[in-house]
Amino acid sequence: MKKIVSMCGIVAVTGYKKAIPLLIDGLKKLEYRGYDSAGIAVINSETKEIICNKAEGKLKNLICNVSHTNIEGTIGIGHTRWATHGKPEVKNAHPHVDNSGKVAVVQNGIIENYQELKNRLEKDGVVFHSDTDTEVIPHLIQKELIALNKLKLDNNGSTLLVAVRNVISDLEGSYALAILWAGAPESLVVARKQAPLIIGIGEGEFICASDTPAIANLTKIILPMEDEEIALLTPLGIEIYDSNNERQYRNPISLQISEQVIDKMNFKHYMLKEIYDQPDTAKNWLEKYLVKDSNTGKLEVNYPFDTKFFESIERIEIVACGTSKNAAMVGSYLLQQFSGIPTNVFYASEFRYSPPPLLPNTLTIGVTQSGETADTIAAINMEIKRRSLMSEKRYKPNILAITNRVESSIGRKTSNIIDICAGTEIGVAATKTFFAQLLSFYGLAIKFAQIKGSQSNQNIRELISDLVQLPPLVEELLEKHNKSSAKLAHDFFNVKDVIFLGRGINYPIALEGALKLKEISYIHAAGYPAGEMKHGPIALLDKKVPVISIATPGEVFDKVISNAQEAKARDAYLIGVAPDYSGTEIFDYLMTIPLTSEWISPLISIIPLQLLSYHIAAHRGLDVDQPRNLAKSVTVE
Ligand code: F6R
Repeated sequence: MKKIVSMCGIVAVTGYKKAIPLLIDGLKKLEYRGYDSAGIAVINSETKEIICNKAEGKLKNLICNVSHTNIEGTIGIGHTRWATHGKPEVKNAHPHVDNSGKVAVVQNGIIENYQELKNRLEKDGVVFHSDTDTEVIPHLIQKELIALNKLKLDNNGSTLLVAVRNVISDLEGSYALAILWAGAPESLVVARKQAPLIIGIGEGEFICASDTPAIANLTKIILPMEDEEIALLTPLGIEIYDSNNERQYRNPISLQISEQVIDKMNFKHYMLKEIYDQPDTAKNWLEKYLVKDSNTGKLEVNYPFDTKFFESIERIEIVACGTSKNAAMVGSYLLQQFSGIPTNVFYASEFRYSPPPLLPNTLTIGVTQSGETADTIAAINMEIKRRSLMSEKRYKPNILAITNRVESSIGRKTSNIIDICAGTEIGVAATKTFFAQLLSFYGLAIKFAQIKGSQSNQNIRELISDLVQLPPLVEELLEKHNKSSAKLAHDFFNVKDVIFLGRGINYPIALEGALKLKEISYIHAAGYPAGEMKHGPIALLDKKVPVISIATPGEVFDKVISNAQEAKARDAYLIGVAPDYSGTEIFDYLMTIPLTSEWISPLISIIPLQLLSYHIAAHRGLDVDQPRNLAKSVTVE
C-alpha cells in the first residue's frame, strides 16, 4: 500500500480579532515543520461561508495570495505542509474541504487506513480532489453531520464535536486536527493522537497550534492537550474531553519561552550565523552547567538531578534520529570509554519496533533538539510503558531527555531534562544544537565518571579544563576556516560523491560531516569508520571522489593515517581534518585544527566540516536554510 505522509504545522483561532493575521503569524513560526505548500481557511463574518486560500511553495506565496483578497473573519485554520508523497501542489495543500464546502480540515500526521476509508466513500459517490490521506476527514465529517442532523441535534459546536468524535474513532494512525464547520461559525474542534497540539488562552480568543512559538506572540497562557483528547473552542470557552468522553478540567500553565528576536545579523544565511554562534553556545553551556563547588572552589558539572539518580544506573540506552543520533554516538563513546558504563545507541525508528530486552537499572536517554521528533517520542513513550508494567523498583522509568526545547513533548514526558541551551536554531541543518548536545554528553560522562569512580580526579579535571578552553578555540577555528573552506568549496562544489572517514570518538563526526554535506548540498556523501573502508566502500574510490579524513592524535591516529594512505593509493584526493602533526603530510589538503586531547576533539573537528558543507551548498546557489524535502521537526514516523 502506498502511504501518503504529511508532516506539517497547524494553527487555528477563534475569537474577536481578525483571524488571518493571527493565522499567518502562527504559520510563520511553524514553517520549520514543512515548507512545501501552505493554506488557510476562514469563515467569512458576513456570509458565514468557508473561504480557502492555498499556495504551492513557501509561506511567502500564501501571504502574497492573501494580501490580494479582502476576506474578513474571526475564526480560521491554517497549515504549512511537508510531504513525501502526494506532490506539493495546490490540490494537496491543506485545508481540505468536503464537497458541500461546509467543512474544512487541517491535519498533521498520517491516516494509515485512509485508502480503505476513501474506497468506502467513493463507493457512496464521494468525489476526491487531492492525493492526500487527509481529504477523507472532511468527507467523513460531512457524512456524520448529515446523520446527526437526522437525529435532530442543534446546529452548534456540540454537533460538530460529536461528529468529529465519531469520525476519529474510525481513524488509524497519528494526527493533530483542526476543523471548521460553516454550520457553527464560531466553533472550532481540535483533536490529537500522537501528534502535538497546544491550546493558547488569549484575551478574547483561543488559539491552538502544533507548537508553542505559534502561540507565544498572542499569549503565554497555555493548555497542552493530552494524547487522544478532543476539544471544542468558541470565543466563550473551551471544553476538553478524553477518549472516554469524560470532560477534563485542569489549570492552564504559563509558557516559559520568551519571544526571541532572531536576526541573521550580517550573515548570508542562518546556518552560517548559527555555525558562528557556537563559541557563545559553549559559553552559555559552561556558564550554566559548570559551577564552582563552594567547598573545594573547583568547577563541577551541575545537572539538575541528585547523585542518587546517577548511582543506580548500570547501563544506558540512547534513542535519537539524524544529527542527534550522531551526537548520541559521541555520547556513547564517552559514557563507555570515559565513564565505564555500557551504553548503546539506537535509531529511535528502529528501537520503537525492536527494542532490546528490558534490563534493570537502565537509563534511557532521548536526544532531540526539537523535542518533537515522532520516532524519538514514540521510543521514549514505549520505554516508559514497558517499565511501568514491571513491578520491581529496579525497572522503574529512568528516563532522561536532552533537548533544546524543555517545553516540548519530550520535556513533558520526564522531569529529568538537560536543557542544551543553544537558543533558537532556524537553519534546518542542525549545527549549534549538535554542538550543545555534544557538550551535554561531556557533562554526563564527567558526572558518571565521578560517581562511579571510573576516572582519576586528574583526568576529570583535565577534561573540565579542556571544556573551559573551548570558546576561544572555536572562535579561532571559525576565523581560520571560513575563508579557506569557501576556497575549498570553489574547487569541490561540483563533485558527485564524497567519503568521510573517522575512527573512535571521531567516527560519528565522519557521519555528521557526511549528513551535513548531503542534506544541504544534495551531493552524495557517506561516512565510514576508517577501518571499514577496505571491506567494500574502497571500491568506490577513484580520483573523482574526495576523501575527508578526521585524524586527531590519540589512540587511533596511526590507524586513521594508514587508512587514508589506502585511499590515496586508489587516487582519491585526500583532505585531512587534523592538526599540523607528523603523519598528516600525506593529505593533499589539510584543514588544520589545533592539537587538543582526543577526548574533546569532536567539538573541534566538526567546525571545519560544518563550514565546508555550508560553503559548498552556498556555492551551488542552494536554499541552505530550507533545503528541499526537509523540515526542522519531523513529527511523523
Ligand atoms: C540534520 C538534522 C536532522 C535532525 C533529526 C532529528 O541536520 O537536523 O537529522 O537531527 O531530524 O531531529 P531532532 O533533534 O529534533 O530530534
